[in-house]
Amino acid sequence: MDLELETPAVVIDLTVALRNIARAQAHLAAQGLAVRPHIKTHKLARLAEAQIAAGAVGITCQKIGEVEALLDEAPSIADVLLTYPVLGNSKLARLTALARRVRLSTVADSAAVVDALSAAFAGEPEPLRVLVECDTGGRRCGVQTPDEAADLARHIAGAPGLVFGGLMTYPAAGGQAAATRFLAEAKRAAERAGLTVPVVSSGGTPDLWQTRADGVVTEYRPGTYVYNDRSLMARGAAAEDDCALRVVATVVSNPTPGRVVIDAGTKVLTSDLLGLIGHGLVRGLPDLTIDQLSEEHGRLTSADAIPLRVGDRVEIIPNHACVVTNMVDAVHVRMPDGAIELWPVTARGRVT
Ligand SMILES: Cc1ncc(COP(=O)(O)O)c(C=O)c1O
Repeated sequence: MDLELETPAVVIDLTVALRNIARAQAHLAAQGLAVRPHIKTHKLARLAEAQIAAGAVGITCQKIGEVEALLDEAPSIADVLLTYPVLGNSKLARLTALARRVRLSTVADSAAVVDALSAAFAGEPEPLRVLVECDTGGRRCGVQTPDEAADLARHIAGAPGLVFGGLMTYPAAGGQAAATRFLAEAKRAAERAGLTVPVVSSGGTPDLWQTRADGVVTEYRPGTYVYNDRSLMARGAAAEDDCALRVVATVVSNPTPGRVVIDAGTKVLTSDLLGLIGHGLVRGLPDLTIDQLSEEHGRLTSADAIPLRVGDRVEIIPNHACVVTNMVDAVHVRMPDGAIELWPVTARGRVT
């Protein structure tokens, strides 16, 4: 580990990230699925470009600000799906400006959002593609039944300035089969109403490797697969060597044999547990528990004496990589030749 690196630092192993991108692309393409990675995990212009170079049809973003930041730095991004309901005049004005720069699609699960989009796009030169978001078991946004999906699809198709772009879901982990059943029914209902359903978009890294062609889903939006994390290891969806993002921290205190304190707390690791015990995996010392975080301190405990001393460094695989990305202005990227480059996190903090 580079001792000049100031800690805490977020380090990305580019070789591992590029291997993750290539593997997922090959797996999904073999199932006949288009790949549209969600950039929420890395928020980096250069990795978005790497995903497109590997064969992605475009990218997925959650926020308008993320799209704006990435388009400014990554000219190869030509196609974006914004998987978030957009509301409010100022955001709608930003959306219309974006639609002039890139092939843009977005989602809605209510007539209110559709009507607001329609009012904004009615005078635009090109219509906006709007997909109906379906709740297929994730219990977040989304229409609740296939018939509701078809009704909203018809509403979109009849709205000035919009075209019906298809169906979209973010399924619950382990919920692909339920998602396919819902989407198949919604597709049939929309077709019965005389509509064509050009895209059926699903996603999620937990089920990525089990995903098979089902004749319904046409594109897949994996996000976390690019870095992987401890939560995906716990689900059996990634091995430790597939985890490209690590938090490097320094032991700053060793008050008792069974307790050390590192210089990474919630401001880097975040408090996301994702159902796990402890706040990350200490590489090489899997029996240690990061059992308590305050803002700048992380406490590591063990029933046995801990083989770490003040000044030692540890590498941590966090529970949830995506939220860690958003905590730092720049990541330290270990290039394939071993050199370390500092990459600004292009879309960091773009929450609107
Ligand atoms: C709408 C949407 N699509 C795709 C993804 C990517 O999922 P994952 O990070 O599990 O690959 C997410 C993640 O939050 C999401 O919210």
